[in-house]
Amino acid sequence: MAISEQALVRLEADAAEVIARYPRPRSALLPLLHLVQSEEGWVSPEGVELCARWVGLTTAEVTAVSTFYSMYRREPGGDYNVGVCTNTLCGVLGGDAILERLESHLGVHHGETAGNVTLEHLECNAACDYAPVVMVNWEFYDNQTPSSAVELVDALQAGTPPAPSRGVGRLCTFRETERVLAGFEDGLADTGTGSGPATLAGLRLARERGWSAPRPGTTSTSADGAGAPATGYGRSGGPSGDDAPLRTAASDPANTTPAAASGSGSGKPEERP
Ligand code: FES
Repeated sequence: MAISEQALVRLEADAAEVIARYPRPRSALLPLLHLVQSEEGWVSPEGVELCARWVGLTTAEVTAVSTFYSMYRREPGGDYNVGVCTNTLCGVLGGDAILERLESHLGVHHGETAGNVTLEHLECNAACDYAPVVMVNWEFYDNQTPSSAVELVDALQAGTPPAPSRGVGRLCTFRETERVLAGFEDGLADTGTGSGPATLAGLRLARERGWSAPRPGTTSTSADGAGAPATGYGRSGGPSGDDAPLRTAASDPANTTPAAASGSGSGKPEERP
């Protein structure tokens, strides 16, 4: 379905606002892809053409980016993107069983849509403390079971989405979520339940034992003598090789700073003119 004239006027204005946040138009490509998803629910060929025109890239370049990231849909989907994590912790605690149950209940597999629900097989959601986790439009539903996951998708299909376990107090639709990801706040951040005991367990233990975060060039900071783990971070007084800024711009002459091109860098991040 083509984007209406009215929607196009709105998108053009929003795109200009997004692009103005960045030093170069092409830097705005990722939020602009979210913006077109907020209108159409996926990155359509028309959306690709819009993004290419807005940032001065070819449609091939925009497509290369949009097909690299799993958050951009290659075809239309439902209002609710239901993602099931089966990575290590979720997997051993039942993530695979949840995915199998949802596949048979909905009659679809990864990337397919049943009514207003699109099923997705996700990698780790960084929510392992409440595994197994299901995400709907990237909001957490913690400590799921096959039965509770079925109840969740039934509620979504019935138009009565339950509030997420944490974060926002109301589950947004895919399009609404995409507009937030494009950089337009909806005022819902932290309107729901905050971090729970499982997430804060490490912080509680650190406080009880008097630990604090190590600084570069230091080792243990334990106050109780129990010996917080020495990090080894900064043994030579600086960041490790893994932490040192990489000068990847040197491989892209069109976007290389003079300092990087001459090899005169100090190892510090280089600022663009
Ligand atoms: S393993 Fe599932 S959220 Fe990390």
